[in-house]
Amino acid sequence: MAFVSSGYNPDKPMENRITDIGPQNYQNFLPPVIKNNYGKWLYHEILEPGVLMHKAESGDEVYTIRVGTARLMSVGLIREILDIADAHCDGYVRWTTRNNVEFILDSKDKVEPLKKDLEGRKFPGGSNKFPIGGTGASVPNVVHTQGWVHCHTPATDASGPVKALMDEFYSEFQSMELPAPIRLAVACCLNMCGACHCSDIAVVGIHRKPPLIDHEVLDDICEIPLAVASCPTAAIRPSKVEVNGKEKKTVAIKEERCMFCGNCYTMCAALPLADAEGDGCAIMVGGKVSNRISNPKFSKVVAAYVPNEPPRWPTLVQTIRKIVDAYKQDAKKYERIGDWAERIGWERFFEKTGLEFTEHLIDDFRDPAYYSWRQTTNFKW
Ligand code: HEM
Ligand code: SF4
Ligand code: SF4
Repeated sequence: MAFVSSGYNPDKPMENRITDIGPQNYQNFLPPVIKNNYGKWLYHEILEPGVLMHKAESGDEVYTIRVGTARLMSVGLIREILDIADAHCDGYVRWTTRNNVEFILDSKDKVEPLKKDLEGRKFPGGSNKFPIGGTGASVPNVVHTQGWVHCHTPATDASGPVKALMDEFYSEFQSMELPAPIRLAVACCLNMCGACHCSDIAVVGIHRKPPLIDHEVLDDICEIPLAVASCPTAAIRPSKVEVNGKEKKTVAIKEERCMFCGNCYTMCAALPLADAEGDGCAIMVGGKVSNRISNPKFSKVVAAYVPNEPPRWPTLVQTIRKIVDAYKQDAKKYERIGDWAERIGWERFFEKTGLEFTEHLIDDFRDPAYYSWRQTTNFKW
């Protein structure tokens, strides 16, 4: 494509440069009914899955329709969202903290026409563009990461598994029949960008093989002490090798100490470790962020490894289906998955979900591991 200047002058890069202006003030984008009643809301109701009503002191009512999105979207799709907002909501729209989209209406008679409009929109493949749901005790959107679309450290994909999961849990997105909401999250490596460590159910990409060492270039492209210091188990030490008759500074990795976290690769491009057969996913459950009744919890690993099976990850999806079904059947009202598992005991969690308990699930990382073992005779056969 022919070059078209924006007016930026590469010969004087600092001229006319605007900086540190920050984001736009959110107040500029509030629908009038929100602005008028700001901080004066009395109560809200969930009218049906995906539809909320907020009542203000003034008597004003606001109706919100929440729709799922794929998070990763084209400008074309954003334009379509804006067209819908223009047609039904005076041009106002918002995105939620789980990347759903909310259309906000100032009167009840606008709800049905918008619902009809949204329900009629499909991609050529047949998927709904704007499925309504994600409120109450449902499975709302999956908080996820870059995967093979954009990152260089993933052990699995993000968009692919998320689509496979949400196809499986589509009816749970569109209904509110669970004991409590189930928050799903996917991170494609142990960096856990996002919410995996604090979600009801989480998928985390893991490696199972130590890094390869590119001795020839390592010292040229890496800060060796940084790579050494990046290792949580001190598996890396500086060393020297001979490559093509020349002595090279490099590192050595004690493979029996390496647990394949990939941190050293993040610091040093000469230590790649992605591997088609080795890589896969771990499943974690029982995390939560709210302090409703029980304190916030970390999620815990309950399946050490399921293979990557693109494009639909059937083993991963079916294992998570088993967890959701057991929880749905057994948990009490308002119990999150972690509340349920801790009440019945983790040995019962494994029994009820049919998941296999393996030695990989037993914490062996430093002193705190001890506190995750059982220092009581309280257990069930
Ligand atoms: C066949 C009968 C019984 C058996 C097999 C039995 C067995 C045991 C065992 C294995 C312990 C744990 C010891 C340890 O962890 O060091 C224990 C503790 C104890 N037992 Fe028994 N016991 C019996 C009857 C009784 C009776 C009749 C009483 C009281 C009237 C009693 C009171 C206690 C108490 C107070 C403890 C200490 C609990 C604790 O420190 O937490 N036991 N017993
Ligand atoms: S979780 Fe890891 S692989 Fe995924 S986007 Fe974050 S850093 Fe990249
Ligand atoms: S992958 Fe992780 S555990 Fe293994 S050597 Fe690198 S930093 Fe250490």
